[in-house]
Amino acid sequence: MTDDGKTREDENLERFAVNIPPFPRAAQQVMGMLRDPRVQIPRVAEVVSLDQGFATKVLRMANSAYFGLPRKVSNVTEALVLLGWANVRIVLISASVGPILCRGLKSYGMEEGVLWEHSVGSAFAAQMLAKDLEASAYSMAFTSGLLHDVGKVAVDMQLRGDLRKKFIEVMDTCGEAVAEREVVGHTHADIGGYLCDRWNLPPEIAEAIRFHNQPRSSESALAGVVSAANVLANALLREGRGVGIGDFRDAPDGTFVPGEKLLAKVVEELPSIVASSRELLGGTTEVVPAHAGRDEK
Ligand SMILES: [Fe+2]
Repeated sequence: MTDDGKTREDENLERFAVNIPPFPRAAQQVMGMLRDPRVQIPRVAEVVSLDQGFATKVLRMANSAYFGLPRKVSNVTEALVLLGWANVRIVLISASVGPILCRGLKSYGMEEGVLWEHSVGSAFAAQMLAKDLEASAYSMAFTSGLLHDVGKVAVDMQLRGDLRKKFIEVMDTCGEAVAEREVVGHTHADIGGYLCDRWNLPPEIAEAIRFHNQPRSSESALAGVVSAANVLANALLREGRGVGIGDFRDAPDGTFVPGEKLLAKVVEELPSIVASSRELLGGTTEVVPAHAGRDEK
């Protein structure tokens, strides 16, 4: 423990937060508010409107052709009311983290936009898989899926020159997890969980992200869902292969096994959901549809 009460572990992790842009304060506040079932859209809109830049992004996304709102909107309350609850959370979180997740990650061999697409795919898959979880876990599934690999951004921003070369060498021979432990000292999952804590996101989201690669080590149902969503996004979007129950039942780290009907639905719908949102994935922040999962509120 250091003089200011931080552990050595905290200090080490802090190194990874310095380059990451802060989560917009309005978005932090809104994420907290969205957990309260009594919160009303006008109150959320009021908080969003306090941050001009954030409000502009939210309006731009709301007005995108993707949502097909009946008219152009120029005030946040009207935009959020027309979008409806199911889309509000998706717009707000995507507008907050789009610029962070769109980057290319040289250390991981990922071109610009690759992590974003994987994150969006995982987010929609997580939301679909979480439909039978309790309401509060369901409400955090999209955000957890979207942010599950944010720690990779922090790792990539930290690695330069010879260290990056070494990381890539170890990753090529021994895999990502070994490279992260040996060269970085932390897994991207640990760093992602730490960032979520720093951004004051709900602890359940930080937990799901921290354990998304080893959900058996956590009590969190959400961690299992994000782990399964990650498998689905990788197989369906990156590898272009089918997915069966065996991908989950036999997975050494898996805890969440979707029912066959639900799995078939995700397999059938996920690629088109992500493809149809692709026009909104360009630029820095534009994501967003909402036809996955169940209606909220
Ligand atoms: Fe990951």
